[in-house]
Amino acid sequence: MAKNRTFTMLKPDAVENGNIGAILELINTSGFIIVAMKLTQMSRKDAETFYAVHNERPFFGELVEYMTRGPIVAAVLEKDNAVEDFRTLIGATNPAEAAEGTIRKKYAASIGENAVHGSDSDENAAIEAAFHFAGRELF
Ligand code: RTP
Ligand code: MG
Repeated sequence: MAKNRTFTMLKPDAVENGNIGAILELINTSGFIIVAMKLTQMSRKDAETFYAVHNERPFFGELVEYMTRGPIVAAVLEKDNAVEDFRTLIGATNPAEAAEGTIRKKYAASIGENAVHGSDSDENAAIEAAFHFAGRELF
């Protein structure tokens, strides 16, 4: 399996709860190399654009409020089979259904506030990385 990249955000709840270090430790010990990273805050327009695929869903308003209420850590991660392996590491969207040892099982409070984002395809990983990072910020 070739090395490839995924995009992640440690969401506002993860930052507020002081879990940046613990989550990055899990990411690194699971074999992912960080090739871009920053602390940043999304504007309402940023969040509406990033999550545009969900704009008809009943939770869209709450999702935008949540994702804009404080800083996030945005990062790009490299590993063999990065997209799929990172989705496995983060666990199910609803932490109540997430497997033991996953990031959401350990650090997420609810389906709405679930600590971390992971891209769902190679194509979206590239789009999401480009949304948050300039070329000179990617290594
Ligand atoms: P993400 O995109 O953030 O990695 O999460 P995901 O693929 O596991 O889940 P997705 O279906 O893409 O949903 C995006 C985010 O919307 C919020 N959500 N809230 N209240 C709800 O029923 C609900 N469902 C989804 C979560 O923050 C979810 O991660
Ligand atoms: Mg998703």
